[in-house]
Amino acid sequence: MKPNVRMSQLTRGLLAVAIVGSGLAVYHDDAVAAISAGKHNLSSTTVTNNRTTGAGGEICVFCHTPHGADVSTAGAPLWNKRFTTTATAFTPYVATTTLDGAFATDGTGTGGFLSGASLACLSCHDGTQAIDNLLNAPGSGGMDSTGGNSDGRAFVWNTGNNSNLNANGYLVSNANLGKDLSNDHPIGIRYCGGGPVVSAPGTACADPDFISPTNGLIGTQTQFWVNTGAGVGGTGNATRDKNDMLLYVRNFASGGNGPSVECASCHDVHSSAALFLRIPNSSSNVCLACHVK
Ligand code: HEC
Ligand code: HEC
Ligand code: HEC
Ligand code: HEC
Repeated sequence: MKPNVRMSQLTRGLLAVAIVGSGLAVYHDDAVAAISAGKHNLSSTTVTNNRTTGAGGEICVFCHTPHGADVSTAGAPLWNKRFTTTATAFTPYVATTTLDGAFATDGTGTGGFLSGASLACLSCHDGTQAIDNLLNAPGSGGMDSTGGNSDGRAFVWNTGNNSNLNANGYLVSNANLGKDLSNDHPIGIRYCGGGPVVSAPGTACADPDFISPTNGLIGTQTQFWVNTGAGVGGTGNATRDKNDMLLYVRNFASGGNGPSVECASCHDVHSSAALFLRIPNSSSNVCLACHVK
């Protein structure tokens, strides 16, 4: 998570609304409040739609573990779930006559388009395993490399008011994207048809119908993002923050390492914003953050 100081006024406003709306009287800090007040707090007993007894109120454990994590996929840090074992069966967005960008080749799935920040989401959102399927369950001696077997830890799920969860804790209905991603916005797709690469980050976009990405050295790594500061009526900012559309460096067959669009480009999994969107999609601002239309 990014330091709180980088959060925009807009986000603080939204958080305040979400927190008041959820009826929570107190919270410890913005970062924790953000996820705890939203649907990704699978331990919550107050968030509408949620959820379980058995996890001791823990939030992070459904996705991350401090020990024994699956670290095989960059972009899914300290991951506490099995990645979908039949990953090769995923189908990418179907290429159209107007598609300029290539798909990444360094992951799994058809041609290797799937990785990290998308594969992580799909370990719940493809509907093939229980959401309490954890490698390291809470408490002493909770390690289980099978992830708790196909139906997870058998935590008790409150499905009575949640039409997106079945009795075994699998996502169904709207929240289940399945493994056929051909009718979903492309992911694992090169940003702006190519151009910017890690070795020459300032290169112009091959397809001018995109907002040029910003790049910067974060730690020792070149990162890319599409700045949204100005697009939502804010003051604009030069640094990468959670309200920007984050691009993830992937490898492409031609051109080498460059920026790719993943699930987490548009969604901030740790927030309590509507639909976990990085910025509200009113006036289609999510779409217009990247597409010049
Ligand atoms: C529903 C799944 C989920 C939950 C719950 C979750 N995370 Fe994450 N987390 C992710 C995913 C996916 C990524 C990688 C994509 C990204 O960076 O947004 C990530 C990335 C991170 C990162 C590295 C990137 C960054 O933003 O600094 C940290 C640190 C992190 N999570 C901490 C936490 C903590 C602490 C909690 C509990 C308060 C938590 N996460 C809860 C899914 C989750
Ligand atoms: C540990 C399982 C898990 C992981 C991993 C996970 N999610 Fe979710 N997600 C859920 C659950 C549970 C819900 C709530 C479903 C419901 O009740 O509507 C949800 C809901 C959502 C929603 C709908 C929110 C709404 O307001 O309707 C979005 C969008 C979403 N997740 C995106 C993501 C993205 C993007 C990632 C990866 C960066 C991710 N999720 C990772 C479990 C997960
Ligand atoms: C280009 C941006 C973008 C990308 C990439 C993206 N999403 Fe979304 N997603 C959205 C928007 C915008 C919505 C809200 C659509 C609406 O209002 O109906 C949404 C909605 C959702 C929902 C809620 C569906 C519902 O109707 O309840 C889920 C779950 C979800 N996304 C998960 C994912 C996952 C998982 C990935 C990666 C496989 C992903 N998204 C990639 C923009 C994106
Ligand atoms: C993070 C940047 C980003 C965001 C946000 C985004 N897109 Fe995209 N979108 C892309 C990229 C990159 C492609 C691949 C285009 C290409 O290579 O021609 C794409 C592809 C598409 C395509 C398919 C184009 C084709 O030629 O087949 C459509 C349609 C589209 N986006 C619509 C949307 C809509 C609608 C939204 C908002 C809900 C949105 N996009 C949000 C980056 C983004």
